Amino acid sequence: MNFAKITQAAHYVPENVVSNDDLSKIMDTNNEWIYSRTGIKNRHISTGENTSDLATKVVKQLIENSGVDPELIDFIIVATVTPDSMMPSTAARVQAQVGATNAFAYDLTAACSGFVFALSTAEKLISSGAYQRGIVIGAEVFSKVIDWSDRSTAVLFGDGAAGVLLDNSGSQPLIIAEKMQTDGKRGGSLLSSYADIQTPFASVSYEGSNLSMEGRAIFDFAVRDVPKNIQATLEKSDLAAEEIDYYLLHQANSRILDKMAKKLGVTRNKFLQNMQEYGNTSAASIPILLSESVKNGIFSLDGQTKVVLTGFGGGLTWGTAIINL
Ligand code: ACO
Repeated sequence: MNFAKITQAAHYVPENVVSNDDLSKIMDTNNEWIYSRTGIKNRHISTGENTSDLATKVVKQLIENSGVDPELIDFIIVATVTPDSMMPSTAARVQAQVGATNAFAYDLTAACSGFVFALSTAEKLISSGAYQRGIVIGAEVFSKVIDWSDRSTAVLFGDGAAGVLLDNSGSQPLIIAEKMQTDGKRGGSLLSSYADIQTPFASVSYEGSNLSMEGRAIFDFAVRDVPKNIQATLEKSDLAAEEIDYYLLHQANSRILDKMAKKLGVTRNKFLQNMQEYGNTSAASIPILLSESVKNGIFSLDGQTKVVLTGFGGGLTWGTAIINL
């Protein structure tokens, strides 16, 4: 049996830190509003690095820390909704930068659920026996799609990247249970990166080239649908909510985490949180939290920790993987 295992985690964020007070100098907002509604204090905003630059820095760390020969990496999946370009993909750019010449590479688009969806895919690629080693990254330069004149969204997001190296050295299943979901009918509540059709044959313009979000609708979706998804995944796993060591959820809003913990009847301390430093980094938020937790010694990658990973966002998409870390 081939069991996938996460052997390394790493993250990278742009150096430029933008505080709530910094934002209040360029738009009509203030620290009290942002912090009390979201729990966010700072975010890191790119001063020129693009998504593949951030992702490449993460992959280089994973390679360096593991000592793996880049030519032995079989695949690279980058979860992102802010690619450098649609073609080549961000993952292809990363593959070239790190010399992973034998890896196939592609991007996966599932907004803030992207890392969890990609991890689910990677686990199957390895546990099927088809591939031995791969990398999953969540990477975003969200600042380039934000409408900086819209204070209701501009204050929420940040840039960053993080990811994991997986191989087939596991002695137990990586994913104990999972449930991935999409509801395209509600997709209109979170939009970005629409491209107009302007050809000799048609002229169609769309609204939504920049990010737009129905904040309240997304908030309601997060606190109504997502706990049900976590509960259903727990039932599949035969684990009780309190048997999970840590809950690593998409870092959108600390009030969402408060409500989730309450609904699941789990002590809030188990819901790790770092959005105060990074804001909402979309597909990067869960792996940044994972990598930072390992770095800070909260848990290690020795197979002893049971963790819930849950993403939710544009699509709409949402999904939980309960994993042995
Ligand atoms: N500073 C000051 N005031 C503001 C700001 C700001 N930055 N933004 C909005 N306001 C004002 C509004 O204009 C409004 O004023 P009004 O009452 O005079 O009209 C007031 O604050 C309240 O605005 P609401 O939008 O109702 O605020 P709410 O309490 O709903 O909080 C928030 C907004 C934080 C966006 C919340 O709805 C939320 O967290 N939603 C979920 C976001 C999320 O989880 N996204 C995850 C997915 S992201 C992805 O997938 C890419």
